[in-house]
Amino acid sequence: MKKILITGGAGFIGSHVVRRFVNQYPHYEIVNLDKLTYAGNLANLTDVEKAPNYSFVKGDIVDAHFVNQLFADHNFYGVIHLAAESHVDRSIADPMAFVMTNVIGTVNLLNTARIAWKDNMADHRFYHVSTDEVYGELHDPSTFFTEQTAYDPRSPYSASKASSDHFVRAYHNTYRLPVVVSNCSNNYGSHHFPEKLIPLMIHNICQNKPLPVYGKGENVRDWLFVEDHARAIDLIFHEGKNGETYNIGGFNEWKNLDLVHLLCQIMDQKLGRAEGTSAQLITYVTDRAGHDLRYAIDAHKLMNELGWTPSVTFEQGLEKTVEWFLANQTWLDNVTSGNYANYYDSMYLNR
Ligand code: NAD
Ligand code: TYD
Repeated sequence: MKKILITGGAGFIGSHVVRRFVNQYPHYEIVNLDKLTYAGNLANLTDVEKAPNYSFVKGDIVDAHFVNQLFADHNFYGVIHLAAESHVDRSIADPMAFVMTNVIGTVNLLNTARIAWKDNMADHRFYHVSTDEVYGELHDPSTFFTEQTAYDPRSPYSASKASSDHFVRAYHNTYRLPVVVSNCSNNYGSHHFPEKLIPLMIHNICQNKPLPVYGKGENVRDWLFVEDHARAIDLIFHEGKNGETYNIGGFNEWKNLDLVHLLCQIMDQKLGRAEGTSAQLITYVTDRAGHDLRYAIDAHKLMNELGWTPSVTFEQGLEKTVEWFLANQTWLDNVTSGNYANYYDSMYLNR
């Protein structure tokens, strides 16, 4: 049994990666390390929590002593590192939390892996999951982010992720740590915390609350279904070349306002409301400080070299997502009320 450490596995994308690895690879033992911040929710993993090849450890990647002990207790073959502070608006309000987890936490993991694997470095793999936001913003509609695009982070979040990416590559260059890095576009799908655009809009439409569109709603994002991101991570973890970077994206750009209108249309149909009802909730609010105009990923390297393609169209993915949220109102209520924190206590402390 190869042991794989997945960090941030109780979060949105991490929970999809954990589920995929636990189900697809019974010969791997998956250890999910998560601090369970506001964004980490073990109720995301109820379907795999009893699997024989899965275990959960609560802990903080910033705590070097704890991370060292974890590596001493387990002989990890590989690491898939997703734990992070991930919301741009929070990074504007509290940048230091992003420096701690995204930079210091990542360097702690790199250091510990380097020391633990020093005698057989080449037999291991350290996968760092990053974002397209490190490349900055695009203005010319004909341009895309490629793996060669120079870094130009413009928010505390993207600056902290860019910094962690640089450390990962520096550990490869300096210590020959066998790393792979991927930079992905905006994800959407089930279990998405409702502070991000798509789940927030779905939640607010259900509750008949205002739909806050920043500025004029003209910013563009490139949306990828989260299960297709998890498929790409699986492929890159197994087939990616050491030291390489892969951009992940679905060639699926949307202006925020157009996307919100599309969601309103789908929700009106699903909720049996007259067409145009939800769109009346759209409210223009003060723009985000330093709001990046456009992100767009060129994913040709991943498609041509490793044969990855997205499995669903945006229409299919969005439909699945809306249906999941409508069928999981309790999840949404618990997440928005903070009740999910009690789930850890009942599952792991008071058994
Ligand atoms: P998320 O905020 O939903 O989840 C992050 C998880 O990390 C949570 O479970 C949280 O409890 C955990 N965590 C936070 N600080 C920790 C710490 N100090 N120690 C241990 N665990 C900690 O984030 P997400 O959207 O699932 O993103 C996962 C990764 O993917 C991040 O690295 C993010 O930068 C990257 N990414 C996200 C997107 C996106 O659209 N969401 C796109 C590209 C890349
Ligand atoms: P978000 O989901 O926070 O992802 P990111 O900032 O990492 O791309 O936001 C996606 C886009 O939607 C971004 O341009 C900001 C915008 N936005 C709104 O207009 N209103 C909102 O309430 C939120 C959360 C985001």
